[in-house]
Amino acid sequence: MKDHRPIADALAEDIAAGRVRAGERLPPQREFADQQGIAVSTASRVYAELVRRGLVIGEVGRGTFVRSTAPVSDAGIGEPGDGLVDLEFNVPMAPGQARLMARALTPLLRSPAALEGGLHPVPPAGHTAARRTASRFLSRRGWRLDPDTILFTGNGKQAVGAAIAALVAPGERLGVERLSYPVVKRLAARLGIHLVPLAMDQHGLDPDALARVHRRTPLRAVYCQPTLHNPLGLTMTRTRREEVAAVLRRYDLVAVEDRVYGFLAADTAPLAQSAPDHTIVADSLSKRLAPGLSLGMVAAPARLVVAVSAAIRSGAWSSTGFALEACTRLMADGTVATIVAAKQRDAAERQRVLRQKLAGLLVEADPRAYHAWLTLPAPWRADTFVAAAASRGIAITPAVAFAVVPGHAPNAVRIALASPAISTLSSALQRLSDLARLGPGEWNTE
Ligand SMILES: Cc1ncc(COP(=O)(O)O)c(C=O)c1O
Repeated sequence: MKDHRPIADALAEDIAAGRVRAGERLPPQREFADQQGIAVSTASRVYAELVRRGLVIGEVGRGTFVRSTAPVSDAGIGEPGDGLVDLEFNVPMAPGQARLMARALTPLLRSPAALEGGLHPVPPAGHTAARRTASRFLSRRGWRLDPDTILFTGNGKQAVGAAIAALVAPGERLGVERLSYPVVKRLAARLGIHLVPLAMDQHGLDPDALARVHRRTPLRAVYCQPTLHNPLGLTMTRTRREEVAAVLRRYDLVAVEDRVYGFLAADTAPLAQSAPDHTIVADSLSKRLAPGLSLGMVAAPARLVVAVSAAIRSGAWSSTGFALEACTRLMADGTVATIVAAKQRDAAERQRVLRQKLAGLLVEADPRAYHAWLTLPAPWRADTFVAAAASRGIAITPAVAFAVVPGHAPNAVRIALASPAISTLSSALQRLSDLARLGPGEWNTE
């Protein structure tokens, strides 16, 4: 059998030299094999090698495409491209929030005795006052959290990581909505956990699909975002929450409910209200306040508190003492609530700008969310659209970053609305809208 590597090298050279251009579709493997006089299995290894080198991307049902050479993040984590308008990461900041926070934290910094409390290491359970404050802060009508079931981490990522690590051992299966928060993919890889994609419909996670997948090969747990799902912006209806809760109870499965964006839809009940014994809630202050001064919170059913606490310790995911003291004050005195109210208004305003600028395009977005999902008009592909946007100074995220199975990513991009000033957002959205209507051929030849 012919060695596939020299053929892969030659094709890689053609891509590097621009003889095969970004966005171009490679011939189907059988045709490529005929052209090269090689076996189809060798052609298949050539393509697999190019995928491994990150030069091409295989999209189920569409073919294999040359990837753009512009830096395209498929991690969904990290730094936005240098100098680009950041529509990739959501870092909301309300005007004047630093002043409000400074005022609220002054007593902590002025009083050595008060600060002293924040200088010590923090156990996952924090201390009684912090747990009581967090319980009051997170509870809502119909859903009261027992303070003794609350644990603290540095941020939401760590809260999610600890909850998953507590439930799922290396080699076991975690069910995840087929499009999901990219960090969960990284966490699962790090923890040696196998992610199993779960079907979704217009109401989010499909409970029948969850039951079917679990019956075929049991899952150990589920990670989901019932409220303002990232990236799709979907929120489960009450009926859907009840249906998912029924499946969890029936199969004695535990869900990790990510509520990091839940504060933008404050009226929505959590899944945990419907399935309190089968849900671990992960939440944080990073979006409500700021990633630089944040606190992660995990609320677990009583029988799982020890396991989550052990996972926080062994993962080294504890909060710092200062963050715990500062954030407890900011939650207790209403500062977080004031900033949250400003961000709810801000998100709604940004969605209005989005609807105006992208009118006529296929956009899915909740009017309360800080993100939107744009399905690209043919013949755009997400990879080339992201590169084209970058060449126009805008960073966005391709669907593949969120796809649990990368070859099955839809032809779409996520637009994060929170980070730039509204005027910058408005002009960036106008540029994206023009680009989407222009088409890849016209962009390439410009
Ligand atoms: C769905 C979701 N969960 C968790 C997080 C992470 O939260 P934190 O920034 O507190 O680590 C994010 C951040 O974007 C997110 O989108």
